[in-house]
Amino acid sequence: MKLAVVSAVVLLVVLVAWPVSAGRKDLPGTGGYGGDDDGGDDDTQSWFPLDNQLSLNYYDKICPNFEKIVDNKVREWTKSDASLGPALLRLIFHDCGVTGCDASVLLDYEGTERRSPASKNLRGFELIDDIKSELEKSCPGLASCADILTAASRAATVQLGGPYWPNAYGRRDSKASYARDVEKVPSGRRDVTALLETFQSYGLNILDLVVLSGAHTIGQAYCGTIQSRLYNYNGTSGTDPSIEPKYADYLRRKCRWATETVSLDAITPAVFDNQYYINLQKNMGVLTTDQELVKDPRTAPLVKAFAEQPPQMFRQQFAVSMAKLVNVGVLTGEDRTGEIRKVCSKSNSGAAY
Ligand code: HEM
Repeated sequence: MKLAVVSAVVLLVVLVAWPVSAGRKDLPGTGGYGGDDDGGDDDTQSWFPLDNQLSLNYYDKICPNFEKIVDNKVREWTKSDASLGPALLRLIFHDCGVTGCDASVLLDYEGTERRSPASKNLRGFELIDDIKSELEKSCPGLASCADILTAASRAATVQLGGPYWPNAYGRRDSKASYARDVEKVPSGRRDVTALLETFQSYGLNILDLVVLSGAHTIGQAYCGTIQSRLYNYNGTSGTDPSIEPKYADYLRRKCRWATETVSLDAITPAVFDNQYYINLQKNMGVLTTDQELVKDPRTAPLVKAFAEQPPQMFRQQFAVSMAKLVNVGVLTGEDRTGEIRKVCSKSNSGAAY
């Protein structure tokens, strides 16, 4: 068993090496990403940033109950609305994936990322606000909204039965946010080349792309997101023929209304396991971008490996890739732009830009 796992790790490393290097020169690094701004293939270097001043001990002295307060609040809110757990995991991706993990997604003014139509299904903002006001009582002015979102997304993942990853803290919050930047986060209809380019621009690699897409082992998609795949595929009145026929029937019946939802993992929607990859191999991916991962020869072997290996393999790599994602493009230190917001939805100056 051990050998199988080790050989799969080797397989993954080998697979990761070649496709990402193609064309990388043209893609921007992430800056502030621990000297690993050429794409971050080497997990030993990129697991934690080396020069961006984030620290595992950041709150130990200044706000020792930081993580405890976040954990308790997440537990309290998800107890009454379990769907907030997946929503938080999505929210951190939409924060880090735009201008870096700087809480820009939380700013709530006309023209911000949050007000963009592409962000309309994002949720969890009130929970983050509540955590912030609780933290302001015990450590006023010290906990950034970007750190809170980072901690809350991990708390939600762990509480959902997902893996733990160590979070380094010390992020500062952006002072501005622009709706036009939202196009940086992939929608559900890109091809693998476009997804890879996006992930490379974050300093993430092909393995990170495949493993972080595995977040879709939990949570829901609105039917409105996939209706064109079901009723209007490529401008016809038909269904994407690559969807497994019985599953396509089910989706068509379930998705008559755009406001309905379907589980991103049809088989074990509440379990943080590798079923998502098994589904992809059976052509049961909900989003086009999910299903593309098995069609593309660069990502298909990784999907196969995660589908065939014990779930622990996916869970461990998910933790590694999340620890990388939450360090993308962070603002740190007094000398850089950024602030510790008093209220997560507003900049301290109160100005929109
Ligand atoms: C690879 C590129 C990705 C694409 C194209 C993508 C796209 C989407 C789309 C279209 C939805 C459904 C939204 C809706 O209908 O409202 C969704 C949901 C979700 N995504 Fe992704 N996603 C990607 C990567 C990620 C990553 C990296 C994470 C986190 C690490 C993530 C976590 C989630 C979660 C948890 C949900 C369910 C949210 C809920 O139930 O409220 N996604 N994603």
